[in-house]
Amino acid sequence: MSNWVLEASGLTKSFKDGERQVDVLNDLQLQLAYGQSMAIIGSSGSGKSTLLQLLAGLEQPDAGEVFVAGECLSNLGGNQAAKLRNQRLGFVFQFHHLLAEFSALENVMLPHIMAGNAPSMAEKKSEAMLKRVGLGDRTNHRPGALSGGERQRVAIARALINEPACLLMDEPTGNLDRHNAQQILALLKQLQIDLGTAFIAVTHDLELASLLDSQLRLQDGKLLS
Ligand SMILES: Nc1ncnc2c1ncn2[C@@H]1O[C@H](COP(=O)(O)OP(=O)(O)OP(=O)(O)O)[C@@H](O)[C@H]1O
Ligand SMILES: [Mg+2]
Repeated sequence: MSNWVLEASGLTKSFKDGERQVDVLNDLQLQLAYGQSMAIIGSSGSGKSTLLQLLAGLEQPDAGEVFVAGECLSNLGGNQAAKLRNQRLGFVFQFHHLLAEFSALENVMLPHIMAGNAPSMAEKKSEAMLKRVGLGDRTNHRPGALSGGERQRVAIARALINEPACLLMDEPTGNLDRHNAQQILALLKQLQIDLGTAFIAVTHDLELASLLDSQLRLQDGKLLS
């Protein structure tokens, strides 16, 4: 088994913007050990969200490779890459992306049912996960009836339901006040201890970043410690 839950080598990515080429990532290296947390900071437009998309295999790099639990994501075909992603990785996006017409419980259940589990089992497990993130009494609320911090906790519960080895989070506390941000962070650290989940959090919040196991800055297309 590889030592790294997530590894990237030589990641390079540019975008074409009309005539102009925007170089975003340039021969970037990343290694994250099992159960460890990493903060990635960097100015707006430095490529943080692009990096997470590549790590998740949701976008293809121009060059370089991503390994998830030792398996090369870039060598797999669409279906197998999706399977590896669904089994090993969880995501919390920059905006929470919950389904508005479904309850908190249904939002959490969905990825578990899509992974092939029976609805009755998905319901049980989702209730337990919502309880774990402190929302045991909000399971039937729709996202519109939840606060920003509560929605973010539903998104985290949803990302964790298939027991990923690593969570990828884009600004998990970005639109929360300090109190809620601290609560989310405490929750993530507890999940790291209880479930052994590794995580990468992109953040502008230096205080939050300082509480994770490592801190890296994305600058000029590379990660600097
Ligand atoms: N699909 C795309 N097409 C063209 N350019 C893109 C695309 N996606 C991102 N970019 C450009 O790549 C650069 C990096 O964008 P990215 O969203 O990764 O930045 P970021 O670090 O996440 O910024 P923020 O902190 O504001 O979220 C930006 O200059 C952006 O305009
Ligand atoms: Mg971004």
